[in-house]
Amino acid sequence: MKALLLILLAEVCLASLVPEKEKNPQYWRNQAQQTLKIALKLQQLNTNVAKNIVLFLGDGMGVSTVTAARILKGQLQNMKGEESLLEMDKFPYVALSKTYNTNAQVPDSAGTATAYLCGVKANEGTVGVSAAVTRAQCNTTAGNEVTSILKWAKEAGKSVGIVTTTRVNHATPSAAYAHSANRDWYSDNEMPPEAIQQGCKDIAQQLFDNIPDIEVIMGGGRKYMFPKNTSDVEYQNDDKYRGTRLDGKNLIDVWRDKKPKDKNSQYVWNRSDLLSLNLMEVDFLLGLFEPIDMMYELDRNVQTDPSLTEMVQVAIKILQRNPRGFFLLVEGGRIDHGHHEGKAKQALYEAVEMDRAIGEAGGMTSLEDTLTVVTADHSHVFTFGGYTPRGNPIFGLAPMHSDVDKMPFTSILYGNGPGYKIVAGERENVSVVDYAHANYQAQSAVPLRQETHGGEDVAIFAKGPMAHLLHGVHEQNYIPHVMAYAACIGQNTDHCRSGAHHSTVGPLPFLSTLTSILLLKFLF
Ligand SMILES: *[C@@H]1O[C@H](CO)[C@@H](O)[C@H](O)[C@H]1NC(C)=O
Ligand SMILES: *[C@@H]1O[C@H](CO)[C@@H](O)[C@H](O)[C@H]1NC(C)=O
Ligand SMILES: *[C@@H]1O[C@H](CO)[C@@H](O)[C@H](O)[C@H]1NC(C)=O
Ligand SMILES: *[C@@H]1O[C@H](CO)[C@@H](O)[C@H](O)[C@H]1NC(C)=O
Ligand SMILES: [Zn+2]
Repeated sequence: MKALLLILLAEVCLASLVPEKEKNPQYWRNQAQQTLKIALKLQQLNTNVAKNIVLFLGDGMGVSTVTAARILKGQLQNMKGEESLLEMDKFPYVALSKTYNTNAQVPDSAGTATAYLCGVKANEGTVGVSAAVTRAQCNTTAGNEVTSILKWAKEAGKSVGIVTTTRVNHATPSAAYAHSANRDWYSDNEMPPEAIQQGCKDIAQQLFDNIPDIEVIMGGGRKYMFPKNTSDVEYQNDDKYRGTRLDGKNLIDVWRDKKPKDKNSQYVWNRSDLLSLNLMEVDFLLGLFEPIDMMYELDRNVQTDPSLTEMVQVAIKILQRNPRGFFLLVEGGRIDHGHHEGKAKQALYEAVEMDRAIGEAGGMTSLEDTLTVVTADHSHVFTFGGYTPRGNPIFGLAPMHSDVDKMPFTSILYGNGPGYKIVAGERENVSVVDYAHANYQAQSAVPLRQETHGGEDVAIFAKGPMAHLLHGVHEQNYIPHVMAYAACIGQNTDHCRSGAHHSTVGPLPFLSTLTSILLLKFLF
């Protein structure tokens, strides 16, 4: 009798789990047929020249993070979640990226940034240098520098920008402009004296020395720009946010001094100043909104800190004024930090916010002339499972208890990390804690102060000119080669000369090359 009741209850629950329309097979057939129509249209390739390139990099945004972020986004809109679509889900082309570093199976953000920005795989911990450079060995650097697509774009006359939620001198952005044997050399304060003696420069300094005319730079990292012990403009009494520079330089002044006097250069450190700029008149923008990394989106001070989406809007408005187009790197940099702390909720809200920025950028640009690529540097040992029913809250419990310790468990778990918790000799009973809290640390199998990266492939989503070249399982360093080819910059420009390779579809560019060859034969 009791068993029967349970089965009945379960069936009642299951029935309401399935949206009414999904019970009709025609719903799924129509949905699939619609998708098929769109897929068939893709046979007409977009071989335009990409005037603009936007690269969105979700730091640590593995495929499990993308799926969980999609469900979260849907649930925030009162949907069940699984059926919802991220902006990146709407991109027509998806490929996989092999993320390993030359010396690491499970990579870090520095070696990978060198791959997807400079087109060359490198050692972990190094930025903008080849694998001939040993981490933290300054004297292995010289002669082994590699340049990035940001530089190639600049050399081709495009405007360029960097927007991140981390420090602007953190691993991901730094590979766009710096060459450093150690990603941790944020300012000279973080460098061993021997590296300074050997002539290596800190990354903050390189941001303004190497490519002095980057139009847009936004993120955190103020403290690395000011002389040691300078109090921070926003946290006057907080010692940990004081300036760090041993060379006594004020890099904001250095930045300003390097700008042509007839150009309008603006430095801002808060959201209200950023949003009150007249963007039609700003030529160079430096926005540093926090002393170190920016706040998590969930904790953001909406007075002083812009959202990632707001920064992207501002950046595109400024960069778009260049008739030759632009390259913009956008990093959702703290997805990674949320995961390292075992705080899945922070990580997933960061991912949802980056997706919102992707939607915004899509609305401000055109598929005709803008190649947009969304990818990650590496994954995390983040997972969700446990036979959760349809629409289960993404931060909720699995519908079962462990058949070993009899305790419930959250669907989201980590392979390792700080959430490992034993209470009175047993795994913590999660039903007595607030597992939906923003800073709840999901349980992990192995205790570690910092949860680690994961080694599996990550996704590459692409739309716009030549997006179809991202089509299979690729080495990560292939990505900037495609972006450069599409934009006719960097090393691949031969296919651009004839004036072919734009505004046509299909094999026409090839035909016109053939025609020119035939013409030449007639002439000689
Ligand atoms: C490079 O620097 C390291 C210390 O960082 C030193 O041990 C080594 O001898 C140096 N090599 C050369 C060729 O100068
Ligand atoms: C740092 O600055 C504070 C206040 O500006 C000052 O009281 C303190 O003496 C300074 N410390 C050093 C080591 O210069
Ligand atoms: C933003 O920065 C400007 C310039 O320093 C300052 O005048 C203003 O009070 C700041 N606004 C906020 C909300 O902190
Ligand atoms: C876990 O905690 C809940 C709520 O206090 C309690 O009802 C349940 O019995 C506990 N489970 C175990 C296995 O201790
Ligand atoms: Zn990381």
